Amino acid sequence: GDVRLWGGRFAGGPAEALARLSASVHFDWRLAPYDIAGSRAHARVLHGAGLLTADELTRMIVGLDRLEADVADGSFTGTIADEDVHTALERGLLERLGADLGGKLRAGRSRNDQVATLFRMYLRDHARIIGGLVADLQEALVRLAEEHRDVAMPGRTHLQHAQPVLFAHHILAHVQALGRDGERLRQWDERTAVSPYGSGALAGSSLGLDPEAVAAELGFERGSSANSIDGTASRDFVAEFAFITAMIGVDLSKLAEEIIIWNTKEFSFVTLDDAFSTGSSIMPQKKNPDIAELARGKSGRLIGNLTGLMATLKALPLAYNRDLQEDKEPVFDSCDTLEVLLPAFTGMVATLTVNRERMEELAPAGFSLATDIAEWLVRQGVPFRVAHEVAGECVKVCEAQGIELDELTDEQFAGISPHLTREVRTVLNVPGALASRSGRGGTAPSAVAVQLAEVKGDVAEQ
Ligand code: ARG
Repeated sequence: GDVRLWGGRFAGGPAEALARLSASVHFDWRLAPYDIAGSRAHARVLHGAGLLTADELTRMIVGLDRLEADVADGSFTGTIADEDVHTALERGLLERLGADLGGKLRAGRSRNDQVATLFRMYLRDHARIIGGLVADLQEALVRLAEEHRDVAMPGRTHLQHAQPVLFAHHILAHVQALGRDGERLRQWDERTAVSPYGSGALAGSSLGLDPEAVAAELGFERGSSANSIDGTASRDFVAEFAFITAMIGVDLSKLAEEIIIWNTKEFSFVTLDDAFSTGSSIMPQKKNPDIAELARGKSGRLIGNLTGLMATLKALPLAYNRDLQEDKEPVFDSCDTLEVLLPAFTGMVATLTVNRERMEELAPAGFSLATDIAEWLVRQGVPFRVAHEVAGECVKVCEAQGIELDELTDEQFAGISPHLTREVRTVLNVPGALASRSGRGGTAPSAVAVQLAEVKGDVAEQ
């Protein structure tokens, strides 16, 4: 039958075209368990306000428990005719309890405060799931760094050889970024721990309800909304969630891009495990880094979800507007996307093989030790402006003769500058260059060991 929530002032049912436009049950059904939890809390508050007897409350809770079980095993589902998850579940309750009792639950609440509350609950649960998956990836990266803690690689700026760095140092830079993403999720969760339930349609309730009790029962540590208009109409918590998930996508895409490059024949820095690579339908020799490419591609989708949502929210007048029904699909998609992407990405990282010889062969290439000559000169008391010139001169001579910096003779060094004594050779090798950058945050093995220990502590704490 017709279970619309607003029959009274309407002559007939909605047009078929409206019903099809209006329906959200096919995507908001995933809020059903949260809606039922909210209903239980609301029933107790109605009882507290004297609007349900003790017996009615007991029967109401039994009905909600049964409905919850039927939703869980799939024997009760919403249909397009229900419009949305809230309406469908009200129908389910009426079917189980009869209209007299079932019809009492809606007092003092609106789908506006309901949906704002349930959406927060859903996203808070998924923030925890995604945070756990990000921590798993951090752990895999930390293990990779630890297993190759003494491997040097060419560090790059502008994708050009810059200075040698430890591979572990480079990998830990990604771990640091992911650590901030995890921190963002936790801080977001703290901000989102406020319950709009009790805000009603927009103005609050005249029925003497107890929004703080509902908030406590539903796990909102910071209580209920201070402003019922804000409670029902604000969606910055959704936009911020969409940003954090998009940022995770961007952080994954950056590492993905590097893995794709490192996996080329020309670089040959890493080899991907067969189980985490794909083949080609026509080229038998191919082994492709599809997980990394999908990560790179899906970051675009996550950014799209954020920008689409921001466009929906822009210029909405207070309070609730039906535009807000468009707030769910983008972030549901962001959750789904990351929850399949992150485990695959972590698997790829956990199983990749590092080609240490190749990285170390290239670490000193491209005159990447020129800065070490300049800084060595500075330590001898030469002004940096002069030191930079002298080191540049060394590169120029090497380039002209097709040799590396450490192949310059003592005479050539002396010819370029009297400051260049043979002791400069102590820094003209990768281990020396690495070891010299031993300040906090530097690439020296001793500094990277400190970083590794700190990061391991942070990841373990999450
Ligand atoms: N399905 C709606 C949404 O997601 C629930 C609230 C509907 N409220 C209303 N007054 N039509 O926003």
